[in-house]
Amino acid sequence: MEEKKPSTADILAKIRAQKAAAAAAAGDVPAAPAETPAPATTPAPAAETVAPAPATSGAKPTSTKDIMAAIRGGGAKPAAAAPPAAVAPPAGDAPKPAVAAAGPRPSVQDMLKAVREGKVGAAAAAPSATAKVGTPVAAPPMPAKPVVASKAAKPASARRSLAVVATVASISAASFVLGFAVGSNLLIALGACVWGVLMTPFAAAWFSVASIGGIWTLGTARFMFPNVLVEPPSKFKVGPLSDYPINTVSNKWKDQFGVWIVHTDQYEGRNMIFALTSVCTHLGCTPNWLDGEQKFKCPCHGSGFYITGVNFEGPAPRPLERAGLRIAEDGMLEVNKSVKYQEEMGQWSDPTSFVSVV
Ligand code: FES
Repeated sequence: MEEKKPSTADILAKIRAQKAAAAAAAGDVPAAPAETPAPATTPAPAAETVAPAPATSGAKPTSTKDIMAAIRGGGAKPAAAAPPAAVAPPAGDAPKPAVAAAGPRPSVQDMLKAVREGKVGAAAAAPSATAKVGTPVAAPPMPAKPVVASKAAKPASARRSLAVVATVASISAASFVLGFAVGSNLLIALGACVWGVLMTPFAAAWFSVASIGGIWTLGTARFMFPNVLVEPPSKFKVGPLSDYPINTVSNKWKDQFGVWIVHTDQYEGRNMIFALTSVCTHLGCTPNWLDGEQKFKCPCHGSGFYITGVNFEGPAPRPLERAGLRIAEDGMLEVNKSVKYQEEMGQWSDPTSFVSVV
């Protein structure tokens, strides 16, 4: 039968036993059994020889881990426990009570649980920790959560500075606009000074962007309201017949309605009142009534018209046109510009183109 190679524990036990025997023989120290009595499960014969592993055990410790566990006397792994003869501590080797009392180290879950319960530094108070650890374990402090700056925490000085920038920009812009509108160099200079002294480049850039956006918005809004040409009514009353003496031309309604009210007896010898439109028949300019010369004179090309409206000089090819005229139910003269009467067409003989005065 092949002889088995002794393990490290066996060698160590043998060495310690030899040292103990030598010391006992020299009489320097008391015998080993008196100093550290061997337990009942570890008989003395182990000190002399390394006993082979019992056949019944079948689990001879071969690894260093098993050997160290057997030496410390732990019973967590029965399989690793060597036979008493093989791994029993010698008489001179004192056990390590501190390690044995400490037991297994606390798990990470136990430490995190203790921290969550606010018992940092007193993990021993946690039931689970004490149950498994047995000794108080100080949990490491958790790192402080970084504080994120929010918008609400924006300092009030920043908001005030924004208000100041808006005020300064408004004052400066108002000074510029008003200065250019009224032609005042003083206001323009004031606006430039305010802008140059108080505005920062960053604020000026933002103000410019906001101004462009505002102008664009106003232009778009203006586009939504197109120009509407409000024309005067085609029918309007010009007062009683007595307001217009004979051989006179009234300019009262020229600017508002574009007609002269003429009272004359020079056209075919008939005393009548009619309304002449103030549009030159040459190219559409507005003639003027020259009371001293008793004629209409066009300022554009010099065409002249009699008080009756008939052309007599200049490039005008035909007489002025009449508008409709009648006496309304209330006795007032009523002009109707929606109809035109042309002398060369024989339309002046139409009774709706004049009012006879008897
Ligand atoms: Fe009146 Fe030419 S437009 S004369």
